[in-house]
Amino acid sequence: MVYKIVMVRHGESVWNKENKFCGWFDAPLSEKGIQEAHAAGQTLKEKGYQFDSAHTSVLTRAQHTLKVILEEIEQPSLPVEMTWRLNERHYGGLTGLNKAETARIHGEKQVQIWRRSFDSPPPPLEKSSKFYKIINDDPRYKGTLSKEEFPKFESLKLTIERTLPYWDKVIVPQIKKGKNILIAAHGNSLRGIVKHLDQMSDEAIMGLNLPTGIPFVYELDDNFKPIKSMKFLGDEETVYKAMEAVVNQGKPK
Ligand code: 3PG
Repeated sequence: MVYKIVMVRHGESVWNKENKFCGWFDAPLSEKGIQEAHAAGQTLKEKGYQFDSAHTSVLTRAQHTLKVILEEIEQPSLPVEMTWRLNERHYGGLTGLNKAETARIHGEKQVQIWRRSFDSPPPPLEKSSKFYKIINDDPRYKGTLSKEEFPKFESLKLTIERTLPYWDKVIVPQIKKGKNILIAAHGNSLRGIVKHLDQMSDEAIMGLNLPTGIPFVYELDDNFKPIKSMKFLGDEETVYKAMEAVVNQGKPK
Protein backbone atom coordinates (compact mmCIF):
# COMPACT_ATOMS: atom_id res chain seq x y z
CA MET A 1 0.00 0.00 0.00
CA VAL A 2 1.33 3.47 -0.88
CA TYR A 3 0.00 6.28 1.30
CA LYS A 4 0.03 9.88 0.02
CA ILE A 5 -0.21 13.07 2.06
CA VAL A 6 -0.06 16.69 0.90
CA MET A 7 1.32 19.47 3.10
CA VAL A 8 1.64 23.19 2.52
CA ARG A 9 3.08 26.08 4.51
CA HIS A 10 0.71 29.06 4.67
CA GLY A 11 1.09 31.83 2.11
CA GLU A 12 3.21 34.86 2.95
CA SER A 13 1.90 36.59 6.09
CA VAL A 14 2.02 40.35 6.70
CA TRP A 15 4.75 39.68 9.28
CA ASN A 16 6.68 37.54 6.78
CA LYS A 17 6.51 40.55 4.45
CA GLU A 18 7.74 42.83 7.26
CA ASN A 19 10.35 40.18 8.14
CA LYS A 20 9.23 39.88 11.77
CA PHE A 21 9.43 36.80 14.00
CA CYS A 22 5.81 35.71 14.12
CA GLY A 23 5.33 32.36 15.91
CA TRP A 24 2.02 32.36 17.82
CA PHE A 25 1.15 35.97 16.93
CA ASP A 26 -1.87 35.77 14.66
CA ALA A 27 -0.67 37.75 11.63
CA PRO A 28 -2.98 37.67 8.57
CA LEU A 29 -1.95 36.73 5.04
CA SER A 30 -0.49 39.51 2.89
CA GLU A 31 -1.97 40.15 -0.58
CA LYS A 32 0.92 38.10 -2.00
CA GLY A 33 0.15 35.35 0.50
CA ILE A 34 -3.47 35.20 -0.66
CA GLN A 35 -2.27 34.94 -4.27
CA GLU A 36 0.13 32.15 -3.24
CA ALA A 37 -2.79 30.29 -1.66
CA HIS A 38 -4.83 30.62 -4.87
CA ALA A 39 -1.85 29.39 -6.92
CA ALA A 40 -1.41 26.42 -4.58
CA GLY A 41 -5.09 25.53 -4.97
CA GLN A 42 -4.91 25.88 -8.76
CA THR A 43 -1.87 23.61 -8.90
CA LEU A 44 -3.62 20.97 -6.79
CA LYS A 45 -6.72 21.29 -8.99
CA GLU A 46 -4.71 20.90 -12.22
CA LYS A 47 -3.09 17.78 -10.81
CA GLY A 48 -6.47 16.37 -9.84
CA TYR A 49 -6.00 16.31 -6.06
CA GLN A 50 -9.10 15.78 -3.96
CA PHE A 51 -9.11 15.25 -0.18
CA ASP A 52 -11.20 13.52 2.46
CA SER A 53 -10.14 15.84 5.28
CA ALA A 54 -7.78 18.67 6.09
CA HIS A 55 -5.86 19.68 9.20
CA THR A 56 -4.62 23.12 10.12
CA SER A 57 -3.54 25.25 13.07
CA VAL A 58 -5.40 27.74 15.23
CA LEU A 59 -3.71 30.60 13.39
CA THR A 60 -5.45 32.66 10.71
CA ARG A 61 -2.64 32.61 8.14
CA ALA A 62 -2.84 28.79 7.88
CA GLN A 63 -6.66 28.62 8.07
CA HIS A 64 -7.05 31.30 5.40
CA THR A 65 -4.54 29.53 3.13
CA LEU A 66 -6.52 26.30 3.53
CA LYS A 67 -9.86 28.00 2.87
CA VAL A 68 -8.59 29.49 -0.39
CA ILE A 69 -7.07 26.16 -1.48
CA LEU A 70 -10.33 24.29 -0.76
CA GLU A 71 -12.29 26.85 -2.79
CA GLU A 72 -9.87 26.41 -5.71
CA ILE A 73 -10.19 22.61 -5.68
CA GLU A 74 -13.97 22.95 -5.31
CA GLN A 75 -14.11 21.26 -1.90
CA PRO A 76 -15.17 24.29 0.20
CA SER A 77 -17.05 22.18 2.75
CA LEU A 78 -14.32 19.59 3.33
CA PRO A 79 -14.09 18.58 7.03
CA VAL A 80 -11.30 20.64 8.62
CA GLU A 81 -9.68 19.92 12.00
CA MET A 82 -7.92 22.82 13.71
CA THR A 83 -5.37 22.30 16.46
CA TRP A 84 -2.78 24.34 18.34
CA ARG A 85 -0.50 21.32 17.86
CA LEU A 86 0.01 22.39 14.23
CA ASN A 87 0.75 26.01 15.19
CA GLU A 88 4.02 27.64 14.14
CA ARG A 89 6.81 27.23 16.69
CA HIS A 90 6.40 29.84 19.48
CA TYR A 91 9.19 32.40 18.94
CA GLY A 92 9.09 33.61 22.53
CA GLY A 93 10.83 36.91 23.23
CA LEU A 94 11.77 37.26 19.54
CA THR A 95 8.07 37.69 18.64
CA GLY A 96 7.58 40.96 16.77
CA LEU A 97 11.31 41.65 16.28
CA ASN A 98 12.64 42.25 12.78
CA LYS A 99 14.80 39.28 11.74
CA ALA A 100 17.42 41.29 9.84
CA GLU A 101 17.68 43.85 12.66
CA THR A 102 18.01 40.99 15.19
CA ALA A 103 20.83 39.53 13.04
CA ARG A 104 22.55 42.95 13.04
CA ILE A 105 22.35 43.13 16.85
CA HIS A 106 22.94 39.48 17.84
CA GLY A 107 24.80 38.25 14.76
CA GLU A 108 23.61 36.17 11.79
CA LYS A 109 24.86 32.95 13.40
CA GLN A 110 22.78 33.44 16.55
CA VAL A 111 19.65 34.14 14.47
CA GLN A 112 20.33 31.05 12.37
CA ILE A 113 20.56 29.02 15.61
CA TRP A 114 17.31 30.51 16.92
CA ARG A 115 15.53 29.89 13.60
CA ARG A 116 16.86 26.52 12.50
CA SER A 117 18.55 24.62 15.33
CA PHE A 118 16.89 21.56 16.85
CA ASP A 119 17.26 22.18 20.55
CA SER A 120 18.29 25.84 21.14
CA PRO A 121 15.14 27.77 22.05
CA PRO A 122 14.61 31.51 21.68
CA PRO A 123 14.32 33.59 24.88
CA PRO A 124 10.92 33.44 26.64
CA LEU A 125 8.05 35.81 25.88
CA GLU A 126 7.94 37.99 29.00
CA LYS A 127 4.73 39.23 30.61
CA SER A 128 6.01 42.76 29.89
CA SER A 129 5.91 42.10 26.15
CA LYS A 130 3.15 43.91 24.27
CA PHE A 131 2.37 40.58 22.57
CA TYR A 132 2.06 38.57 25.82
CA LYS A 133 -1.65 39.19 26.52
CA ILE A 134 -2.91 38.99 22.94
CA ILE A 135 -1.23 35.58 22.58
CA ASN A 136 -1.80 34.11 26.06
CA ASP A 137 -5.38 35.35 26.49
CA ASP A 138 -6.51 34.21 23.04
CA PRO A 139 -9.93 32.57 23.66
CA ARG A 140 -9.22 29.98 20.98
CA TYR A 141 -6.83 28.18 23.37
CA LYS A 142 -9.39 28.00 26.18
CA GLY A 143 -10.05 24.39 27.13
CA THR A 144 -7.24 23.05 24.95
CA LEU A 145 -4.13 24.42 26.68
CA SER A 146 -3.80 24.96 30.40
CA LYS A 147 -1.89 27.97 31.74
CA GLU A 148 0.91 25.57 32.76
CA GLU A 149 1.08 23.98 29.29
CA PHE A 150 0.99 27.35 27.47
CA PRO A 151 4.49 27.82 25.98
CA LYS A 152 6.54 30.98 26.51
CA PHE A 153 9.01 29.83 23.82
CA GLU A 154 9.65 26.72 21.72
CA SER A 155 12.70 25.11 20.17
CA LEU A 156 12.06 22.85 17.18
CA LYS A 157 12.41 19.91 19.60
CA LEU A 158 9.64 21.26 21.82
CA THR A 159 7.51 21.97 18.75
CA ILE A 160 7.92 18.39 17.50
CA GLU A 161 7.04 17.05 20.97
CA ARG A 162 3.60 18.73 20.79
CA THR A 163 2.99 18.14 17.04
CA LEU A 164 3.80 14.42 16.92
CA PRO A 165 1.02 13.30 19.30
CA TYR A 166 -1.48 14.85 16.85
CA TRP A 167 0.31 13.31 13.87
CA ASP A 168 0.36 9.85 15.49
CA LYS A 169 -3.09 9.84 17.07
CA VAL A 170 -5.19 11.78 14.54
CA ILE A 171 -3.52 12.01 11.14
CA VAL A 172 -1.83 8.60 10.82
CA PRO A 173 -5.02 6.61 11.58
CA GLN A 174 -6.90 8.57 8.91
CA ILE A 175 -4.16 7.93 6.34
CA LYS A 176 -4.12 4.22 7.26
CA LYS A 177 -7.86 4.14 6.51
CA GLY A 178 -6.97 5.33 3.01
CA LYS A 179 -8.08 8.93 3.55
CA ASN A 180 -6.54 11.64 1.36
CA ILE A 181 -5.23 14.24 3.78
CA LEU A 182 -4.14 17.86 3.33
CA ILE A 183 -2.21 19.70 6.07
CA ALA A 184 -1.96 23.49 5.89
CA ALA A 185 0.41 24.60 8.62
CA HIS A 186 3.63 26.50 9.29
CA GLY A 187 7.30 26.50 8.41
CA ASN A 188 8.49 24.93 11.65
CA SER A 189 5.60 22.66 12.56
CA LEU A 190 6.00 21.17 9.07
CA ARG A 191 9.82 20.99 9.47
CA GLY A 192 9.10 18.89 12.55
CA ILE A 193 6.88 16.47 10.62
CA VAL A 194 9.45 16.28 7.77
CA LYS A 195 12.26 15.61 10.28
CA HIS A 196 10.19 12.79 11.76
CA LEU A 197 9.19 11.22 8.43
CA ASP A 198 12.66 11.38 6.90
CA GLN A 199 14.37 10.60 10.21
CA MET A 200 16.58 13.63 9.57
CA SER A 201 19.48 14.28 11.96
CA ASP A 202 19.48 17.32 14.24
CA GLU A 203 22.22 18.74 12.01
CA ALA A 204 20.48 18.01 8.69
CA ILE A 205 17.23 19.72 9.74
CA MET A 206 19.16 22.98 10.19
CA GLY A 207 19.44 23.19 6.43
CA LEU A 208 15.71 22.88 5.72
CA ASN A 209 13.72 26.04 4.89
CA LEU A 210 10.16 25.61 3.67
CA PRO A 211 8.78 28.13 1.14
CA THR A 212 5.38 29.74 1.66
CA GLY A 213 2.42 28.49 -0.34
CA ILE A 214 3.98 25.66 -2.38
CA PRO A 215 2.39 22.26 -1.63
CA PHE A 216 4.59 19.20 -1.25
CA VAL A 217 3.73 15.54 -1.32
CA TYR A 218 4.97 12.54 0.64
CA GLU A 219 4.43 9.00 -0.57
CA LEU A 220 4.76 6.53 2.34
CA ASP A 221 4.99 2.74 2.48
CA ASP A 222 3.11 0.43 4.87
CA ASN A 223 5.57 1.32 7.63
CA PHE A 224 5.13 5.02 6.94
CA LYS A 225 8.64 5.21 5.56
CA PRO A 226 8.94 7.71 2.69
CA ILE A 227 8.99 6.22 -0.82
CA LYS A 228 8.99 9.81 -2.12
CA SER A 229 10.07 12.61 0.23
CA MET A 230 8.87 16.20 0.05
CA LYS A 231 8.06 16.39 -3.67
CA PHE A 232 7.15 20.03 -4.28
CA LEU A 233 4.31 20.75 -6.73
CA GLY A 234 6.16 23.59 -8.42
CA ASP A 235 9.05 24.02 -10.82
CA GLU A 236 12.47 23.48 -9.26
CA GLU A 237 13.70 27.03 -9.95
CA THR A 238 10.66 28.61 -8.26
CA VAL A 239 10.95 26.30 -5.24
CA TYR A 240 14.70 26.91 -4.91
CA LYS A 241 14.29 30.70 -5.11
CA ALA A 242 11.45 30.63 -2.55
CA MET A 243 13.59 28.58 -0.13
CA GLU A 244 16.51 30.99 -0.58
CA ALA A 245 14.19 33.90 0.19
CA VAL A 246 13.35 32.27 3.52
CA VAL A 247 17.07 31.79 4.28
CA ASN A 248 17.81 35.44 3.46
CA GLN A 249 15.20 36.71 5.93
CA GLY A 250 17.75 35.99 8.67
CA LYS A 251 20.60 38.00 7.15
CA PRO A 252 21.58 41.40 8.64
CA LYS A 253 20.63 44.48 6.63
C1 3PG B 1 7.63 33.08 11.77
O1 3PG B 1 7.00 32.49 12.64
O2 3PG B 1 8.31 34.10 11.91
C2 3PG B 1 7.66 32.48 10.38
O3 3PG B 1 6.42 32.07 9.98
C3 3PG B 1 8.67 31.34 10.41
O4 3PG B 1 9.83 31.98 10.68
P1 3PG B 1 11.27 31.34 10.38
O5 3PG B 1 11.29 30.99 8.92
O6 3PG B 1 12.18 32.45 10.76
O7 3PG B 1 11.35 30.14 11.29
